[in-house]
Amino acid sequence: MTSGVIQPTDIREVAVIGLGLMGSGIAELVARSGRRVDAIEIDRSFLDQGMARLRASLDKAVSRGKLTDAARDEILARIRPTDDVAAGVADADLVIEAIPERMELKKALFDQLDEACRADTILATNTSSLSITEIAGGTRYGARVAGMHFFNPAPVMKLVEVISTVLTPPEIAETLALLSSDLGKTPVQVSDRAGFVVNALLFPYLNHAIRLLETAQATREDIDKAATAGLGLPMGPLTLLDLVGLDTDLAILETLQAEFGGSRYAPAPLLRKLCDARLFGRKSGRGFYDYRRPSTLTAPAEDHGRAPVPAEVALIREDGRLDELASQITATGIRVAPQPSDETGLVIVAADPRHRVLDAALAAGHPADVVGVHFVESGNRKPGLAELVLPDITAAGTAAKAAALAARIGLDAVITRDRPGFLTETLAYAQFNDAVRMFQDGYASPADIDTAMMLGCGYPRGPLQMLDEVGAARVVSVLEAMHAATGDPAFTPVPLLAEYAAAGTRFRN
Ligand SMILES: NC(=O)c1ccc[n+]([C@@H]2O[C@H](COP(=O)([O-])OP(=O)(O)OC[C@H]3O[C@@H](n4cnc5c(N)ncnc54)[C@H](O)[C@@H]3O)[C@@H](O)[C@H]2O)c1
Repeated sequence: MTSGVIQPTDIREVAVIGLGLMGSGIAELVARSGRRVDAIEIDRSFLDQGMARLRASLDKAVSRGKLTDAARDEILARIRPTDDVAAGVADADLVIEAIPERMELKKALFDQLDEACRADTILATNTSSLSITEIAGGTRYGARVAGMHFFNPAPVMKLVEVISTVLTPPEIAETLALLSSDLGKTPVQVSDRAGFVVNALLFPYLNHAIRLLETAQATREDIDKAATAGLGLPMGPLTLLDLVGLDTDLAILETLQAEFGGSRYAPAPLLRKLCDARLFGRKSGRGFYDYRRPSTLTAPAEDHGRAPVPAEVALIREDGRLDELASQITATGIRVAPQPSDETGLVIVAADPRHRVLDAALAAGHPADVVGVHFVESGNRKPGLAELVLPDITAAGTAAKAAALAARIGLDAVITRDRPGFLTETLAYAQFNDAVRMFQDGYASPADIDTAMMLGCGYPRGPLQMLDEVGAARVVSVLEAMHAATGDPAFTPVPLLAEYAAAGTRFRN
């Protein structure tokens, strides 16, 4: 049995089992580091496919000038492809398992590994959502089993979540963390819990976005835009759900719900319906978006930009917040009045995600013509996205007029119903709350949470860093408004967040 931390230099031979999407990337990565790789597949044809994928990836690097022909040949020479598991793992110092996400398959494979591996070989699984503890518990030497969760594509993505079970001694996790660093990755060490760091924070947020769509809070395009233009994320949530595959999304949410319970993880009914209809996203041609007809991918549901722009707008300013907007509107030749009159086509009020625009609309006297404008606070990035907020009593044409005005003055805008948090803050702050809960529960440090989300999901800054920029007190007040409006306990600020807000403490220094 293994004892003590093994230095990366002593891990010379690595068996990678399953050369699918993940395994072929992991095999490439390990071979590039100079180690010998046993590349193992279930049969010859899958082996050929997996090796072809791996070769294609190396060839691409050569054609881009990032690898020489000779270096590619050396990397390939270090890889020994085989469909014989026992022979492949016999001399391995480490096995990385990347076969399909099904417990019975993993258990059967680990039974084989019990027989075929040396007693000191470390066994790592790349599972995204299965219990590593359950896999380890079924083996002869459970202490040597741990998680090494790579991200897709493995040669590129910098994060590795290293996962210990209750059976794993610290040296094994430390060995895998050192090896990850040696492979050029940034490891984050956590214990075995559904979703680890990244998926446990990402998937409730994705689920929340589906709920916003199914409750008609906004169009799919505007929900996605709130995340990209408002939060600076590389991809909108509905686009990301389609990319991952809706069946996979559903399975991950079900695993999270089984472990944690509560509404954040209960899969949105619309997700189940799309899966029942076999609309699995990009891979099946249709999910939240339709990939068979590319023109439908970008066209807004309604072409608001073509509605007539009102000749006069009333802009109700309380504290100078909309002064700049008033100048922008005036510059395009539209009259701006301080109060609505019979000439007014649109009434603009400043919207605050903690309060209903409806109340301001009623106070303005022309509630059917009112649109609230909220500029998303974007930390140290340049402010950009405007949320155009429509109370439900708004007249049918008001949204179109507001959108036409935004288009005329060059405002980057989304349209949302009048619900606390609107679009951007409701999505972001609920996730910040989850991130604080993760820290509060002692699962991961703020720095590790931020690193994981930046390197695993391409966040420009981690959620806790973003939370600090906005301020805990503001996040608490928006969450409280969301909770009051929905009654959903998931939006209650977690105790640690409330404490930090009261004390003015930051999560990151
Ligand atoms: N796809 C992702 O984005 C992603 C990201 C991180 C982790 N993961 C995890 O990585 C694992 C693999 O996922 P994937 O997307 O690469 O799957 P995949 O279906 O692309 O590849 C799995 C491969 O394993 C092979 N295989 C099946 N049984 C085998 C056996 N007994 N011995 C050897 N090979 C066998 C299959 O032939 C297939 O080629 C899963 O546990 C998944 O949850 C996936």
